[in-house]
Amino acid sequence: MKVIETLDELRAQIQDWKTAGLKVGFVPTMGNLHAGHISLVDFAKQSADKVVVSVFVNPMQFGPSEDLDKYPRTFEQDVEKLSAAETDVLFFPSVALMYPKGMSQTRVCVPEHLTGLLEGATRPGHFDGVTTVVTKLFNMVQPDVAVFGQKDYQQLQVIKSMVEDLAMPITIITAPIGRDVDGLALSSRNQYLSAAQRQVAPKLFVVLNDLALALKSGNSNVAALEATAIQQLLAEGFDAVDYVSVVDAQHLMALTETQIQQKLAQKQPCLVILAVARLGNSRLLDNILIN
Ligand code: PAF
Repeated sequence: MKVIETLDELRAQIQDWKTAGLKVGFVPTMGNLHAGHISLVDFAKQSADKVVVSVFVNPMQFGPSEDLDKYPRTFEQDVEKLSAAETDVLFFPSVALMYPKGMSQTRVCVPEHLTGLLEGATRPGHFDGVTTVVTKLFNMVQPDVAVFGQKDYQQLQVIKSMVEDLAMPITIITAPIGRDVDGLALSSRNQYLSAAQRQVAPKLFVVLNDLALALKSGNSNVAALEATAIQQLLAEGFDAVDYVSVVDAQHLMALTETQIQQKLAQKQPCLVILAVARLGNSRLLDNILIN
């Protein structure tokens, strides 16, 4: 695996591959990699001849109250894991390379109706930071396919919308959520859980599955189902629940009971249950798509 830190070197490598007719896959990350990230690399390898992974802790997507300096940086371990996964290039740009004129320059913003709710409601500007950096990374790497995890479901929909709106010639692939044996969604945040919190954490998936079953069995009273799920999570030992929301899987809109019933009659994934619950300082995200 080559570790590339300059744009010239990256562009020369990509050019070589494209001249040879090879398809380039891309996995953007902020490092501190775990098995969930490696599954994204495996997905990219299935759809491309060469795979580039970027590790860049993007300051633009952190709010003033979010501690950018404390974000875990584990470069050596990341290199080992990516090499073992047979990544072709690790792109490791500096902040100066990504934002040579500072961050008050051109931004890419997906409309509020996708970015101002759920995660965006408590993290203003977060998704503008994500879409701006992902656009820049796409322009640098020029991938044919890029892989994003279903775990960050709202981010995935925001990126898909941006790619469609701006006619970016990139296929976005969704990798399913990697889970521990007890169902807990893999996340860098899991490492901060105490032993007692780790026991509680998988209950998030259990409660969401109960909600999914209730929906599938025809209960479309979403408000009551969401309220019940929140109560269950608190009873299971979560310290707080930011939200449990059943929304349209593509537009993330809240739906009426009639709309829910109509959607459930379709065959495609049409609804998603999104949830964030807290254990101490850790915010655990999870979601389930409903067919
Ligand atoms: O999901 C992430 O790790 C980040 O939001 C991303 C997509 C790498 C952009 O910085």
